[in-house]
Amino acid sequence: MFARIDHIGVAVEDLDAAIKLYEETFGMALVHRETVTEQGVEAVLLDVGENHVELLAPLGPDTPVGKFLAKKGPGIHHVAYQVTDIDATLEQLKAAGMRLIDQAPRTGIRGSRVAFVNPRSAGSVLTEIVEPAAH
Ligand code: CO
Repeated sequence: MFARIDHIGVAVEDLDAAIKLYEETFGMALVHRETVTEQGVEAVLLDVGENHVELLAPLGPDTPVGKFLAKKGPGIHHVAYQVTDIDATLEQLKAAGMRLIDQAPRTGIRGSRVAFVNPRSAGSVLTEIVEPAAH
């Protein structure tokens, strides 16, 4: 079902401090920065091999990531798996009885199509599926 891990999402309070850690100390290339209003975050992608780390800073306390930070503090927020056909994958997940946060794909970072699976049916892991934008 899943081709590979697309990215690990990390919730941060201070985006610039986090970028400094990942870019300067960990040596990852920052390849994209975007405010994703629909998800209430300012996000950056850093390359690590063919995969990414996605740093997420909330646009406000009432956003999903803002609430996550208030409850749990900074840290790993979600795991994202890459798929080639997100519509087909969503149907497979529904058929398998999985509870979905997104019944249909929405726009994610860098023009991707994404959907989140409810952590209650995914072993308490917030799970994202990603169909990257065609290059
Ligand atoms: Co993500």
